[in-house]
Amino acid sequence: MARMKVYAHRGLSGIYPENTMVAFAHAAEAKFDAIEMDVQLTRDGQVVIIHDETIDRTTDGTGLVMSYSLADLRRFNATRVRPDVVGSAKIPSFEEYCEWASSDPSVRTNIEVKSSVIFYPGLEEKTFALIQKYHLEDRVFFSSFNHLSLVLLHQIAPGIPLGLLVEKHGLVHAGSLCSRFGFDYFHPALSSVTAEGVAECHDHGVGVQVWTVDALADWDRMAAAKVDAVFSNFPRPQEHS
Ligand code: G3P
Ligand code: CA
Repeated sequence: MARMKVYAHRGLSGIYPENTMVAFAHAAEAKFDAIEMDVQLTRDGQVVIIHDETIDRTTDGTGLVMSYSLADLRRFNATRVRPDVVGSAKIPSFEEYCEWASSDPSVRTNIEVKSSVIFYPGLEEKTFALIQKYHLEDRVFFSSFNHLSLVLLHQIAPGIPLGLLVEKHGLVHAGSLCSRFGFDYFHPALSSVTAEGVAECHDHGVGVQVWTVDALADWDRMAAAKVDAVFSNFPRPQEHS
């Protein structure tokens, strides 16, 4: 059986400020199987990497991401969640990330389209355009809690793998649904994962990639359930438990 892969959740965010270039660079250095990130749109229609719809939790500013231009957003310090590790870091543009990723062929990326709370018209198209500009098509896969974004991506970017993200309530017959809609992966929350659910996905040719797995006991339970990959804030649970 294939080794369970490990994806760096928001970069190496257990140690570095989440969704910053420093967290991504350290994730690449730590040889994660892929780097996960979240994308949204600025007021001037630029794709930026940030998890929340507001900048309040992760930066020294306040307000909605969509209320700022990219230039204005980049004036804030995005180290608020881990202030003592690096002095300052900017909110990365997705283009900055793509340019960096294009220089290292070992970097694979999971782009989570954050469009459930705010639907950003054009986010899917703009994100894919940058992937094409930097020739990253073979090294990315998309995911979203907004399943209509996935349907859009299926049309816009055929051939790029898609992951169906589901909240903690889980989803019965996920494999059946994913295979019908052409979604390659099911991305359930850790608490909802069962070995039966994983087997049902595999029976339909759908991979299972679980968020977010940090504790060693959870890591072992996911391996026993035969999941394909886990998203983690750390390289290996043993290293921080
Ligand atoms: O994609 C896995 C995980 O990132 C989903 O949850 O809230 O961390 O974006 P969240
Ligand atoms: Ca995410």
